[in-house]
Amino acid sequence: MAATEKKNAAPALTPATFSVAGTTVEFPVYQGTEGPNVVDISKLYSDTGHFTFDPGFMSTASCESKITYIDGDKGILRYRGYDIDTLADNCDFLEVSYLLLNGELPNKKEKEAFDRKMTLHTMVHEQLHFLYRGFPRASHPMAVMAGAAASLAAFYHDSLDVNDPEQRELSAYRLIAKMPTLAAMAYKYSIGQPFIYPQNEMGFAENFMHMMFATPCEKYTVNPVLARAMDRILTLHADHEQNASTSTVRMAGSSGANPFACMSAGIASLWGPAHGGANEAVINMLEEIGDVKNIPEFIKKVKDKQSGVKLMGFGHRVYKNYDPRAKVLRKTLEEVLGELGKIDEPLLKIAIELERIALSDEYFIERKLYPNVDFYSGIIYRAMGIPSKLFTVLFAVARTSGWIAQWKEMMDDPKNKIARPRQLYTGEKQRDFIPLGKR
Ligand code: CMC
Repeated sequence: MAATEKKNAAPALTPATFSVAGTTVEFPVYQGTEGPNVVDISKLYSDTGHFTFDPGFMSTASCESKITYIDGDKGILRYRGYDIDTLADNCDFLEVSYLLLNGELPNKKEKEAFDRKMTLHTMVHEQLHFLYRGFPRASHPMAVMAGAAASLAAFYHDSLDVNDPEQRELSAYRLIAKMPTLAAMAYKYSIGQPFIYPQNEMGFAENFMHMMFATPCEKYTVNPVLARAMDRILTLHADHEQNASTSTVRMAGSSGANPFACMSAGIASLWGPAHGGANEAVINMLEEIGDVKNIPEFIKKVKDKQSGVKLMGFGHRVYKNYDPRAKVLRKTLEEVLGELGKIDEPLLKIAIELERIALSDEYFIERKLYPNVDFYSGIIYRAMGIPSKLFTVLFAVARTSGWIAQWKEMMDDPKNKIARPRQLYTGEKQRDFIPLGKR
């Protein structure tokens, strides 16, 4: 595709020249508004008969996007051009969801209308209660969430036409609004308590916490400091560019699959321990260390490659600097523990000392290993009384707004095609068939 034909194409630069097997071809080079330029190799196969090979997408931009920007070396994360810490300090999660979906921050009137519309979609079909009751109580809540998200397609037939922008919009509202309800139901079901219905007069995070912790027996007031902390955590996790689960959502959606099925695919990908599950591992690690005095011994083990021990919550494929989300979380953690009178929480002391030692140790400095988003989030969740099995579910609730914004961006692009990677085939060449009796 020529640079000039490309929808929303960034300015074309001097083409890249590439030679393979005696053929030299030129490829357009596009410049983004920030970040590395890309070489458009889409004609490589037709021009040279070769594919590119890049398992793990180490050098491959899988799409063009205007939503989220990360500079891993500088520790920058921006949604639609706004720094994550500015958004976390000044906006609420729904405001940020509006930004992700629409590209601009809402004005007061737009925000009120958006919040109201979201609120109207928080309740789920009553029949879903029966779906939940089919699961064993000990099910992992991510299994329940993957099933529940996909099942929404069975209830909301009026928003399944992915070619209709209004239906896409309606699905976006439904998904963002219903995920906290589904997540709280998964928790309530696991502990054998009745489901708590959403309360429309409450804010998004407040309502979520109310559905998690209230019972029908007595009035439950959500602590506003904790609700604000939860809201901020949701904002910090809302989007993260083309990570594994977001790419999964885009890939599933590229075939025209409905958005509920796509979110379920995203949840499945997020469930993996290399993606959404590390904050639980951080808690286990801090508990295992047990006391500040045991940290030097633990660090020794981490540095010994034979031990197989990693400093969980440290390091990131993209960030080679302090994860900007971890900075906000550290501040939030202190606010939460202060509010709960748990500032002496032993796990916090261990975490702070661990961070101090790691950041001054040559092993971590050399490898550019800094705290990531998972280093502090688990301690906050634990202080709030959220069980560790639910940590990844909270991530899914937050990431739904990013997933759906990315899905909508893809669906809005008239040049969207089914994602169909190719392969380097290393299996058998054609061979003679031997009938069963002669093998
Ligand atoms: N503790 C000790 N050493 C580490 C760690 C760590 N947490 N992370 C990386 N290293 C070492 C690694 O052994 C390697 O050393 P060497 O060069 O001597 O072989 C070097 O640092 C480079 O690491 P890598 O494994 O090549 O880096 P990667 O980009 O492939 O892995 C990572 C990134 C996040 C999987 C890894 O840093 C890790 O396992 N961290 C702990 C788990 C964790 O906190 N994950 C949450 C990620 S953030 C959540 C999300 O965005 O989904």
